[in-house]
Amino acid sequence: MRMRRHKIAVLPGDGIGEEVVAQGLRVLDEVARREGFGVDRTTYPHGADHYLKTGEAMPPAVLAEMGRCEAILLGAIGDPRIETGLLERAIIWGLRQTFDLYVNLRPIKLYSAEHCPLKNKTPADIDMIIVRENTEDAYAGLGGIHRKGTPHEVAVAEMIYTRDGVERVIRYAFDLAQRRNKGGKPKLTLVDKANAIRAQDIWTRVFAEVAREFPGVATDHAYIDAACMWMVKNPEWFDVVVTPNLFGDILTDLGAMVQGGMGVAASGNIHPGKVSMFEPIHGSAPKYRGLNSANPLATIEAVRLLLEHVGEASGAKRIGHAVRTTLESGRIKSLSAGANKTTEVGDIILAALAG
Ligand code: IPM
Ligand code: MN
Repeated sequence: MRMRRHKIAVLPGDGIGEEVVAQGLRVLDEVARREGFGVDRTTYPHGADHYLKTGEAMPPAVLAEMGRCEAILLGAIGDPRIETGLLERAIIWGLRQTFDLYVNLRPIKLYSAEHCPLKNKTPADIDMIIVRENTEDAYAGLGGIHRKGTPHEVAVAEMIYTRDGVERVIRYAFDLAQRRNKGGKPKLTLVDKANAIRAQDIWTRVFAEVAREFPGVATDHAYIDAACMWMVKNPEWFDVVVTPNLFGDILTDLGAMVQGGMGVAASGNIHPGKVSMFEPIHGSAPKYRGLNSANPLATIEAVRLLLEHVGEASGAKRIGHAVRTTLESGRIKSLSAGANKTTEVGDIILAALAG
């Protein structure tokens, strides 16, 4: 029988990206060996250094090449030497738009109470998945600046929601909630700001309509401001959450802290059945570059999500188990940068995969 092979693009990017991706790839290779599948990897140099050298941010031909892969593993993008947002828009936003990666999947799970900044919260209390819409809203890029630099300057950024854009991500979230099986009746919470931003009424209506297809899923609703409060006060109330792009961006950083920090928070930028991109939620943290101090667990978790996407569920489980047992064991005292060496966390996870 021929060996299963997966074609994966690797984009380490800027700052700490290269170091954390190196550990993610060690884990990927080890899991591949144990599960008996092959990985064909192509590594791309795009990011700040490449841009400064060549003037090239993300050429369409490279995007097209990546489109022929099953998945993309991304480290981090962003560098203070370059105009704010230029690389983020060309690369992160470029991938999300080009491949229509409409789901931004962000699991928030606490493994050990000592990593949680909230008082009296345990792993049983913090176990949710945030489904962030990933292609529309204020991120659609509609708007601009009129009479820039004058006293009469006008700056506009449109929040847009399309019927099919809202519907597909809500349906994905219901389906996920139904399949997830956290225990008890699954619940999906819609988070929006439809009281102040009346255009978001489209979320309210579509959510109610799609809910009828999923009688097994309980529904709930919170405005984004209140959701931030509940996330801190009663995170145990959340199971699966669905929310527009910008609120999802903000809420998931809060969620990352509640699960122990940016060191462990991963995300998938997904179009089901098509090429999708997986990345840690944290940024490039240029000041930590080359210090071997960034926590690679978020990237390792991104590899876990990537394996789920390419149909290697058993390999994904291995990673989940290794991360869980490692964090439960108390061997990693803090998930912040500097608490452990990047390579040392890689070693620990590799040992846990063997155990
Ligand atoms: C994220 C990041 C990006 C976003 C930035 C880098 C454009 O913060 O993935 O959450 O806002 O989506
Ligand atoms: Mn963000």
